[in-house]
Amino acid sequence: MAPQASKKVRKVVFPVAGLGTRFLPATKTIPKEMLTVVDKPVIQYAVEEAIEAGIEHFVFVTGRGKGAIEDHFDIAYELEATLKARGKTAEFEMLKTSRPVAGTASFVRQQEPLGLGHAVWCARDIVGDEPFALALPDMLIHAKPGCFAQMIDIYEKHGGNVVAVEEVPHEHVNRYGIVALGQEFNAATHKITGMVEKPKIEEAPSNLIISGRYILQPEIFQKLATQKPGAGGEIQLTDSMIALLAEQDFFSYRFAGTTYDCGDKIGYLAANVVYALDRPDIAPKFKPVLDKILGR
Ligand code: UTP
Repeated sequence: MAPQASKKVRKVVFPVAGLGTRFLPATKTIPKEMLTVVDKPVIQYAVEEAIEAGIEHFVFVTGRGKGAIEDHFDIAYELEATLKARGKTAEFEMLKTSRPVAGTASFVRQQEPLGLGHAVWCARDIVGDEPFALALPDMLIHAKPGCFAQMIDIYEKHGGNVVAVEEVPHEHVNRYGIVALGQEFNAATHKITGMVEKPKIEEAPSNLIISGRYILQPEIFQKLATQKPGAGGEIQLTDSMIALLAEQDFFSYRFAGTTYDCGDKIGYLAANVVYALDRPDIAPKFKPVLDKILGR
């Protein structure tokens, strides 16, 4: 299968319609993507990662109760007018530069949370017939350059579909989508020969998980259109990727960076510590506090 010509990746899809049950009661009224890591909602990190990679259009697949995400990426007239009137220029500029330019954000609703595959399928009309990036925003990836910027380089070399992967301890493989690897292009990039969603530990083909960043060809939507529910009774994206693997190339990319699963309490707490220690305005004051808590 020859790699397909690399059409530019202009759009990114963020499925944000999940219920976030692991974060109740916080997520009763707050979308889990709006939980803050230090002082920024988790979703904003993912949007900034996409902007850094040159992506131009942001598609959010939302659901009921997720209106705060739409508001976050809109102008807050009263707040911004007040900041301006009070001479709080830095805060005003920060809000101005942290939202997508008018006309570059689209919102579509997944009416029922039938699974990640179904959420992605809901974006089909907005994405149209072009390759697109896909980010699960609660998988926060701490990387420089950002994970998408790294993946676009791989996509421009190889074409096809690109899936970010990372290792987990073998006893955790039953929680994730797992890839089987074929031909090696370099230590970080391989052809994918198989995928399986949440396999039994003894049946997993590797300990490399699909870690929440993808570049996919639009033909995935045809597979998703008829995808039957899989693991957990949900319409699984991995199952449609397996179907597309019979027709197109998929490449795994072991990105340079670390993932924090902010849909999970431990991952979320760890992300707050790591991102705070990464901030020159916060780290000098935070580190002594942390040392004291840890008795160092
Ligand atoms: P998760 O597996 O984290 O599920 O979804 P969840 O429902 O959000 O959270 P828990 O497990 O109940 O705590 C992975 C990604 O897919 C989206 C989620 O919003 C998240 O970004 N998703 C999942 C949807 O958009 N729709 C769905 O039907 C399921």
